Amino acid sequence: MVSVAREDSETREKLQSNFVSTEWAGRAGAGRAGAGRAGAERHGDVPSLLFYEAVNLRRDVRGQFSGAPIPSEVLVRMLGAAHAAPSVGLSQPWDFVLIGDPDVRRAFYHHVQQERQMFADTLEGAQADRFAQIKIDGILESTLSVVVTYDPARGAPHVLGRHAIADAGLYSVCLAIENLWLAATAEGMGVGWVSFYREQYLSELIGLPETVRPVAWLCVGPITHLEPVPDLERHGWRARLPLTAVLHLDTWGNSAATFLAPGSDRGGLLRPQVDAQ
Ligand SMILES: Cc1cc2nc3c(=O)[nH]c(=O)nc-3n(C[C@H](O)[C@H](O)[C@H](O)COP(=O)(O)O)c2cc1C
Repeated sequence: MVSVAREDSETREKLQSNFVSTEWAGRAGAGRAGAGRAGAERHGDVPSLLFYEAVNLRRDVRGQFSGAPIPSEVLVRMLGAAHAAPSVGLSQPWDFVLIGDPDVRRAFYHHVQQERQMFADTLEGAQADRFAQIKIDGILESTLSVVVTYDPARGAPHVLGRHAIADAGLYSVCLAIENLWLAATAEGMGVGWVSFYREQYLSELIGLPETVRPVAWLCVGPITHLEPVPDLERHGWRARLPLTAVLHLDTWGNSAATFLAPGSDRGGLLRPQVDAQ
């Protein structure tokens, strides 16, 4: 584990020069201007994985952060991917607070440790032993933290598509986070989502307006490697379910396993069945 001692003023300067330069703002503008061009041309020299490679390689990273700097153009691409997410009524209700300040990160880390202990106190026996082995954050070791927030007032009151489902705004923020996570994977970076915190605490720590809600604290940065298996699975906490366990056909509980069987005609589902009137 990388020690806290690295987070001195020198590190802070390094962080700030990496993330908050004038070049940063200029490139953010350039990204928008280029948005109308064809995909292949637009992505040009951007290092990239095939889509399914990124999806399957993506990992929640806690223990593999190297602490190396993030090139500013890489960070801008990742944030641009997050900002390209779909959102209900095009409300784009997200904001991204870049946290380079070591004092803020250290304060948050201590809060997270308290929450970790609170959760640990609810466990017993083998489960308690297993949890004790699991690292739940890389706040101090990662290069940067990004707090992603939700502003329900953006685009309100007439957010198209949110009148019946208030949570649709929150869903939109989660899509931005997933875009950022996949973009980071394509860039060879790691992301770790930390949710062991009280919203009130984090809001006050980083000065969020009353109406803006923190959705995620993301640890971001270069890594030594991505583990092939999720940490929770490696530690025997929980395993990923097979797709058949979460797939239903027409009604809840009616297994759609045959739909996945090789050679199946997919139950006719892939043939047009409904007249569009
Ligand atoms: C909403 C959300 C909150 C999460 N909070 C934490 C967390 O506080 N600490 C942690 O170590 N992992 C957290 N994770 C990561 C999950 O544990 C992880 O996604 C899951 O175990 C599957 O592993 P994988 O992402 O590597 O495939 C969170 C993930 C999500 C989507």
